[in-house]
Amino acid sequence: MQLSLQTILRLRKKRSSRRYYWRVATRFLEVQYGSIQYMEMLKLRERELRMPIGLSFTTCDLKTEGAQHHFGILNTDRQLCACVLALIDGNEERCQLRQMVVEPSYQGLGVGRLLYEKVESWCRGLGVHQIQLNARLSAKDFYGKLGFSECGVEFNHVTLPHIKMTKVL
Ligand SMILES: CC(C)(COP(=O)(O)OP(=O)(O)OC[C@H]1O[C@@H](n2cnc3c(N)ncnc32)[C@H](O)[C@@H]1OP(=O)(O)O)[C@@H](O)C(=O)NCCC(=O)NCCS
Repeated sequence: MQLSLQTILRLRKKRSSRRYYWRVATRFLEVQYGSIQYMEMLKLRERELRMPIGLSFTTCDLKTEGAQHHFGILNTDRQLCACVLALIDGNEERCQLRQMVVEPSYQGLGVGRLLYEKVESWCRGLGVHQIQLNARLSAKDFYGKLGFSECGVEFNHVTLPHIKMTKVL
């Protein structure tokens, strides 16, 4: 579903109602590694996280993904509009989030926050005590708004500056 510019501007202006709108109009789901929906997520990640920096996922990049959890948000037309990966450590105390991305025409509408809050709730259900991630500097303030704190020094990954961030649950 493509939103008109007018709709996007209206939703951006009415912050409280836009959050309510997305909470009722979208669906959160975990998808199976290797499924059709997993492949859609992979395409979204490739298009938005790798192609803009001139890179592409390699077999080596993807080889551990079978051991990770794959979450997404569907729009009202059941099309994928956001996704993120979660890796739980052996004793289920820590979760590493990876490669969060919201499809560009849905950015700024509360979808990223919604996806994160659903995954955080899933983590709490497992008994996870801490969530960590490596944030692109361009997304650092987004994670700050979700309650994450910076930890450590900046480093380069896939050509971009990143910083480790954590949140204690
Ligand atoms: C970063 C990203 C996941 C955020 O998702 P989103 O749906 O656009 O974010 P939301 O609309 O849920 O925003 C939640 C809050 O964070 C803020 N925010 C969102 N992106 C931000 C950014 N890049 N910098 C600063 N603040 C940001 C919003 O203004 C909003 O603040 P508010 O609650 O005070 O209104 C999304 O913009 C994206 O996919 N970016 C490109 C890929 C990327 O950088 N992924 C992160 C890899 S580490």
